[in-house]
Amino acid sequence: MDGNGRWAKRRGLPRTEGHKAGAKAVAEVIKMFREYGVHHITLYAFSTENWKRPPEEVDALMSLIYRYVDKVVIPEIKKNDQLCVRFIGDKSRLSDKLRKKCIEAEELAVGRPFVCNVALNYGGRDEIVHAVNSALADGHTEVSEEILSKYMYTSHSPDPDLVIRTGGDFRISNFLLWQSAYSEFIITDTMWPDFGRAAIEKCMAEFYSRRRRFGGLDPEDAESEE
Ligand code: FPP
Repeated sequence: MDGNGRWAKRRGLPRTEGHKAGAKAVAEVIKMFREYGVHHITLYAFSTENWKRPPEEVDALMSLIYRYVDKVVIPEIKKNDQLCVRFIGDKSRLSDKLRKKCIEAEELAVGRPFVCNVALNYGGRDEIVHAVNSALADGHTEVSEEILSKYMYTSHSPDPDLVIRTGGDFRISNFLLWQSAYSEFIITDTMWPDFGRAAIEKCMAEFYSRRRRFGGLDPEDAESEE
């Protein structure tokens, strides 16, 4: 969900106003992807590197995320029996108050058809290290792709078909490193608070125009070789 800061700056507003506008954009985005039949969506809300930001911005973001979970996520899960939420990342560094609120939201529902993963204090490298250490602690002396996948924070969700980065930067920024091995990537210049219906329709059209080969050949190309 990149571009909140620049969205605010362009309007002469403090960066935190950009994050507030970003939070407002989330519900419509989830709704639209559900209309497209997307059952798992992962939002990158706070990375393991975001602690490097000024303390005032970190505090504002944490308060915003707390309020969002309390006032939007929890009521929505209570109202909508199709939806559940998972927080992926290392919860141990969060405040007790926020950690408890996240767990409260998670425990409201499990295994519903639509899963929203919120990456909070999440880093792809941190996740891989955590997965290896958890596997070792469980007595594994060797790991495989299958075993490690089960120890990832996202073990309840399939690997993403599509990763969208708003804000125009061509970087992964430690997001779903393990899971995105064969994902399609779309980088859009749209800033996250402006990422709405029109931008999503464009991304989906682009996604459906891609030919995914997963390292193999297109069936058509394979046929013409015969
Ligand atoms: C990146 O923009 C955005 C963030 C670090 C925060 C995103 C969080 C929210 C929108 C809150 C939503 C909460 C939930 C629980 C879904 P940036 O600050 O890096 O923008 P810039 O690249 O323009 O500086």
